[in-house]
Amino acid sequence: MLFKKVLLAAFVSLAVCSLQAQRTTLSSPDKNLQLAFWLNDKGTAMYELSYKGKAVILPSSLGFDLKKTYDDSPLPTLKEGLTVTSATQTSNDTKWKPVWGDVKEIRDNYSQLSVSLSQKGDKAIQFNVIFKLFNDGLGFRFEFPEQKNIQHFIIKEEATQFHLAGDHKAFWIPGDFDSNEFNPNTSKLSEVNSEDPKFAANIYAHTFFDKNATQTPLMMKSNDGLYINIHEAALVNYPAMNLLVDKSTNTLTSVLVPDALGNRAYLQTPAKTPWRTIIVSDKATDILASHTILNLNDPSVIKDPSWIKPTKYVGVWWEMHIGKSTWDYAGSMNATSFDAAGLKPTGKHGATTANVKRYIDFAAKHGFDGVLVEGWNTGWEDWFGQFKENVFDFVTPYPDFDVKELQRYAASKKVKIIMHHETSASVSNYERQMDTAYRFMKKFGYDAVKTGYVGHIIPRGEHHDGQWMVNHYVRVAKKTADYKIMLDAHEPVRPTGLSRTYPNWLACEAARGMEFNAWSDGNRPEHDVILPFTRFMGGPMDYTPGIFQLDLSYWDKNKKETIHTTLAKQLALYVTICSPLQMAADLPESYEKKLDAFQFIKDVAVDWDDSKYLEAEPGDYITVARKAKGKENWFLGAITDENARTATADLGFLEPGKKYTATIYADADDASYDKNAAAYKISKQVVDSKTVLSLKLAPGGGCAVSLVPIK
Ligand code: NOJ
Ligand code: CA
Repeated sequence: MLFKKVLLAAFVSLAVCSLQAQRTTLSSPDKNLQLAFWLNDKGTAMYELSYKGKAVILPSSLGFDLKKTYDDSPLPTLKEGLTVTSATQTSNDTKWKPVWGDVKEIRDNYSQLSVSLSQKGDKAIQFNVIFKLFNDGLGFRFEFPEQKNIQHFIIKEEATQFHLAGDHKAFWIPGDFDSNEFNPNTSKLSEVNSEDPKFAANIYAHTFFDKNATQTPLMMKSNDGLYINIHEAALVNYPAMNLLVDKSTNTLTSVLVPDALGNRAYLQTPAKTPWRTIIVSDKATDILASHTILNLNDPSVIKDPSWIKPTKYVGVWWEMHIGKSTWDYAGSMNATSFDAAGLKPTGKHGATTANVKRYIDFAAKHGFDGVLVEGWNTGWEDWFGQFKENVFDFVTPYPDFDVKELQRYAASKKVKIIMHHETSASVSNYERQMDTAYRFMKKFGYDAVKTGYVGHIIPRGEHHDGQWMVNHYVRVAKKTADYKIMLDAHEPVRPTGLSRTYPNWLACEAARGMEFNAWSDGNRPEHDVILPFTRFMGGPMDYTPGIFQLDLSYWDKNKKETIHTTLAKQLALYVTICSPLQMAADLPESYEKKLDAFQFIKDVAVDWDDSKYLEAEPGDYITVARKAKGKENWFLGAITDENARTATADLGFLEPGKKYTATIYADADDASYDKNAAAYKISKQVVDSKTVLSLKLAPGGGCAVSLVPIK
């Protein structure tokens, strides 16, 4: 039941001078978090935050430098000389139901402080700071109301500070304007250094700007046991935020991704920035369970979401990444232009009608919703690293891919083919083609698209995470929604909870996914126990788990790469990763050899009534249980880093008095991510709400459990 209770706790409109020195304070509904806002003696906006009496953010300044749009002339700084014109406190306690997600209902409970700021004189610029304090964290944003002194303007700099109370342990990837596809590092904040050569390897397109910078979501742990996560929510019409670390004071300062000319953002009043978020708790599991970022996003704009379907899929995909087949039809990548008349097929083209039918058959037999097909359209001969603008048109299939026949065949098997639009970062070209491409999809029965932005954004030289591209990704989400198309964006900006507003935007990549294991030094065993605390804070990821053939030299004896997890961990990832879009990424032949283990992937849900984060420590381990949407079945996943450990799963969340069959997919006794990784054992046992399972996890291992009520 939805209920709404908005309290006007206090309305204060105080005389300017009395507020200058005065601190305005705000408590979270449970009083654990305390926020203070004030102006210092220079008239700079300041805030601080504490949790259960411990400092989270020491006094930190807020402010902007702006300039005029047409002539670049400066506008008065908003970093000092401010006055407070009003401060208003309100609160909210409502509930809402997400279209899909880790729980079926979310409580939106916060105390709010809205401060209006101005300056003296007739050039004064007004702006507001809105603070929302939840029980698990703070969100704040800036608003520029309509006003006479600025209409259009440029943000030269947003100088939001996060002055931390210590040199925390941090889980970080380097600050970058184009990519998030890095292995994370764990170190003290004072040791952040993106010049480490390992970061530059195997990235399609990236732009470092300062060796002391990191991206968000930034996960930290203080010496006194606080877990602190800094990110942003509702990133719309604004660039993404990186954080520059001042190692002498433990202060992080926002660095907005610039455009091709070096400007940060172009705004028109009324305008608002994304929310800056600080999630904090003394329990790591609370960070994973937080819905604050979703709560800070606007409600869904899709009135009837009945066409949006959480999706489990297979695809003509991994076989290209491991080199068994190719995206291109006529010659290797970087060859000359495709010319159907002149160039002969390689014989290794993956997206042939016959091969796609093979995947459709497999999907139908095992109950998958979709089949992703990459390399179906012309252009792949020229797509990579050539910076050509009009490589893809998204409507012209290769001669061996029969669109009509596959439409008929997929429909007869009740399977959906998932469209692929690799833009090769030629985004103006994609914008020109979008309507044509989506009409083509609808005509041929496709209702989901995976987009991709590999390479530097051409022709404008924008950055993946700048305002222009941020607007592009949102435009794609809106336009696909108009066509009732579900969306999965690869290489976009990191997500910030916008899937609440556009629930057709099922997932993004925006991190180092499984593909890196196929052709690079790979993802480290700790990757999967860091991502939920970092990248996943903003929303679901199309991570593509489920690799069973872990030793990739099986496909090509010259291949040195292997997957740095055990097979049981590949299963557990379907639960530790929360996403309404999950791929079973390996080839049908890999699954056919291990149908008993494959059963877990077939059974596991992708949408949930409830989630219980049982135990977790960033970089070390995660154990989580989730209840399938609308069903009585639970699924449990436990994973570890490179260290073996025993996960403890108290099944107290099960319905009291009910018996369940637990099917446990565990690492074999001699399994480890680096030897005998594919060894697993499956056992069954009757459990109830009083059972506490001890699950042995191998180094780089995991355990997956399905819990089905006994009738
Ligand atoms: C990178 C994407 O992450 C991957 O999934 C895709 O196969 C390739 N680009 C080609 O588009
Ligand atoms: Ca990628």
